[in-house]
Formats: sequence, C-alpha cells, structure tokens
Amino acid sequence: MIIGLGEALDYARTHGIAIAAVNTPFFEGLVATIDAAEATGVPVILQHAQVHENVMSIEDIGPAMVALAARSEAPFVLHIDHGEDIDYIARGLEVGFNSAMIDGSLLPFEENVARTAAVVALARERGVGVEGELGVMTGNENGDPSQGVADADLYTDPAQAREFVARTGVTALAASFGTVHGVYHREPEINYPLIDRLCDATGVPLVMHGGSGLTAQEYRACIAHGVRKINYYTYAAKVALDAAREAASDPATILFPKVAAASTRAVEADVARFIRTLAGQA
Ligand code: 13P
Repeated sequence: MIIGLGEALDYARTHGIAIAAVNTPFFEGLVATIDAAEATGVPVILQHAQVHENVMSIEDIGPAMVALAARSEAPFVLHIDHGEDIDYIARGLEVGFNSAMIDGSLLPFEENVARTAAVVALARERGVGVEGELGVMTGNENGDPSQGVADADLYTDPAQAREFVARTGVTALAASFGTVHGVYHREPEINYPLIDRLCDATGVPLVMHGGSGLTAQEYRACIAHGVRKINYYTYAAKVALDAAREAASDPATILFPKVAAASTRAVEADVARFIRTLAGQA
C-alpha cells in the first residue's frame, strides 16, 4: 500500500517514533526492505537518490519499487532522495514516486529557497510531500571514504531554518546537526540541543540523513528530541557485500542467485533491526 509522506510523518509524530527511510538502488536491498517492513508493521519510506544514478537509474528500479510497495499490505512512501534539480524530480514522479526531496543545501540561501519553493509548487499540484535541506552535511553514499567527519560550522542555523520553512512550505526539513553520509571516520557527536531548537523554530518534522553507524541509543535520543525520519543506506549496502563475499567464497556456490539471495537475507535482518529500533520495538 502506498501512503503519502505527510501521513507517514504524522504516524511518526503520533507514535513518538521515526520512520526508516531506506535507499534501495539494488533489487536485493529492495526485496529485503519490503520483507523487513512487512515483518514490523510500521510505515517505511523506500527511496532512490539521484547520486545513485551511476549504479541504477530511477527508470529501472523505480517501477519495481512502486509495484512491490503497491501490492504489499505494509504502508510505504516512494521518495525521491537528494533530487538535485527539478527535472530529476519530474522523472521520479513520472515513474510513480509520490514524495520528493530537493537538495539545494550547497546553493546560496536565496537560490535554495527559490529552487525548493519551485519543487513544492510542482508537487502540490499532485499531492506530493516535499523534503528540503538546509545546512551542509559532509560525506557521500557512494562508498568514497575520504570524508566522514561532521563540520560544526556547516550545521543548520535555527533562525534561517524557520525562514526557509516559512518561505518554501516544505513538509519536512533535512538538517545538519552532527551526522555525515557514508562511513564515519570517528564517533558521531550529535548536537541534541540543536535538534530541539530546529524543531521549535520550524514546526515541521526533522529529517536525519547519514543514519548509518549510530548506536541504538543515539537513534532513540534523536527521536526523543524530535527527529521523525532517518535515512539509511551505507551500512545496509555493506552488509549486502559482506554476505555476498561469504556466499561466493563457498566452493558449493556455482551460480550467482545463491549470492544474491544471501545478500537479500542479510539486508533483511539488518534493515528489520533498524526499523524496529526506530519504532521502539527493540
Ligand atoms: P547513510 O548512507 O550514511 O546511511 O545515509 C543515507 C542517507 O542519508 C540517504 O539520503
């Protein structure tokens, strides 16, 4: 079943949880995330990031994401993650996605406002929720380990966030407060008072990117301070690779599907743990 971003975030707010938002640019990860969501019974966001076009196009994986979500009894949002331009978001909506992030965080403030407001206008016609981003997060989700340390000078400013949300009309705001995308170089230090101030200033659900590599306690604390959507990719993709390596190294493995199935089951266990932690079930 497909539900809207606003509906999923309302569920999160009502239940005092955060929604797991999982990037699935490979089919094994997609099937694994659907299975994990069905086992937990809470809404889950399936997302595809523009930065992953180098490994999988939204036109190829998107229809599978939409079809598997639609036929499932579990509730899913189909979300375009880190859309960099309006054309990419239009491509995702064409495929059947019903939620979008426009990431103008590297643009000057006024340009970020203008681009985000344009996406909100496009989305509103179709009843699509929009996530914007303000403040810069370092790192990346393509396996490049060269960054991995948060830069406090780039964290989101609450007064600017208030203005950004008021002027753009976004449904949710991705903010920078201590996490990074990809692999961490040192333990993350989350700025919890900043999360409080951002929630107070904006009044919209806060989104945490770079959800890989945090402890269960850190997830719970972020949620207690008001984070309502947590994005997750790198560590699930690593789990898939580890399982594939192990299965492939077994001399009894002579055909690829055995390796793919091992990855699916490993990601399912990992993502189920993540969803349950965010939903207060673990
Ligand atoms: P990680 O890859 O660090 O889990 O972050 C995922 C993310 O934020 C996707 O937008």
